Amino acid sequence: MVQLGRYPVGRVTERDFRVAEVPVPDPGPGEVLVRNTYTSVDPGMRLRLRESGPAGYFAGFALNAPLDGIMTVGEVVASEADGFRPGDTVRHASGWREYAVVTAGVPALAGLGTLARIDTSVAAPSRYLGPLGGMGLTAYAGLLDAAELREGDVVWVSAAAGAVGSLAAQIARILGHRVIGSTGSDAKVRHLLDDLSLAAAFNHRRAPVASLLREAAPDGIDVYFDNVGGDHLEAALGALRRGGRIALCGAVSQYEAPGRPLGPANLFQATANDLTLRGFRGSSHLHRLPAMTHDLAGWLADGRLHYREAVFHGLHQAPTALVHMLAGTTTGKTIVRVAAGS
Ligand SMILES: NC(=O)c1ccc[n+]([C@@H]2O[C@H](COP(=O)([O-])OP(=O)(O)OC[C@H]3O[C@@H](n4cnc5c(N)ncnc54)[C@H](OP(=O)(O)O)[C@@H]3O)[C@@H](O)[C@H]2O)c1
Repeated sequence: MVQLGRYPVGRVTERDFRVAEVPVPDPGPGEVLVRNTYTSVDPGMRLRLRESGPAGYFAGFALNAPLDGIMTVGEVVASEADGFRPGDTVRHASGWREYAVVTAGVPALAGLGTLARIDTSVAAPSRYLGPLGGMGLTAYAGLLDAAELREGDVVWVSAAAGAVGSLAAQIARILGHRVIGSTGSDAKVRHLLDDLSLAAAFNHRRAPVASLLREAAPDGIDVYFDNVGGDHLEAALGALRRGGRIALCGAVSQYEAPGRPLGPANLFQATANDLTLRGFRGSSHLHRLPAMTHDLAGWLADGRLHYREAVFHGLHQAPTALVHMLAGTTTGKTIVRVAAGS
């Protein structure tokens, strides 16, 4: 399994982690033994590479211990729990390890990571770490509940080539909205336009974000799906029209930033233009899961939803995957293929 050897200061590096060989226990009553096949790599993990995570968020990871609370899929190899049999494909939250003993019925990751069978006839197992899992739910709930998407809204999605952003941008597009996406390279801008079929896109590294946004949306925007925070959030506050809404999904630009996190200097625009800023967690909208799964599985199947994975091979690559994802060198959902299998 991969463990955290020390809490990183500034940018996380591979040297902050180590691979530990530990015996695989037999499952006890109510437990299953799972051979993991794919495990997730998420920006939010950076907030947990601290002794204590932000108040109200998931707890910090312990040093030299299993990293609990990371979405993972795998195959049951032994079961002492009702309702689970060897050969079942399951999702759970005991990630970044080859084998996990998981207790059935114990809530994990606010319900999203509680041990459950997944339906591989609907989609391949790894899809449950992306569109059919927390990423899909976050994108869907962020648009419908936090941003209260309305007919005619012009929508800007930041980090739009990433896991949540690519889904949020395409869901809004499929629902008939003009969508602007931003990302961190020219190649990813092409991906947003050619593969995700967004109306406009820009590279946030090319110029100040506010001016790039003004070029892409000269008449302003109605919804901002914020994955980045910092200068992006400030640009959105300057571009939102009256009654506009911001879904505060994440602030990845601030997770590794040295010193005090950057807040928007123009927050008064929220008052001036009757804006709504709403933070949300996908896992607080579990009631959306059936509708989200139905819609996204349908759009994946009929080809309207483009989905890309950045797959790193081998568990030892998990820290490298995290470093690359935070640096912006991956496209789509970043995952690690742990073992041969599904
Ligand atoms: N609220 C929730 O329940 C929830 C759930 C899941 C994720 N999230 C949040 O959603 C956001 C996206 O997560 P994800 O899993 O989809 O990750 P992701 O977008 O696949 O990967 C993170 C991306 O953020 C961009 N980025 C990194 N540093 C940046 C900076 N300084 N300025 C601008 N962009 C930067 C990079 O892409 P570029 O090359 O495009 O810059 C990077 O690839 C994160 O803020 C995450 O914490 C929230």
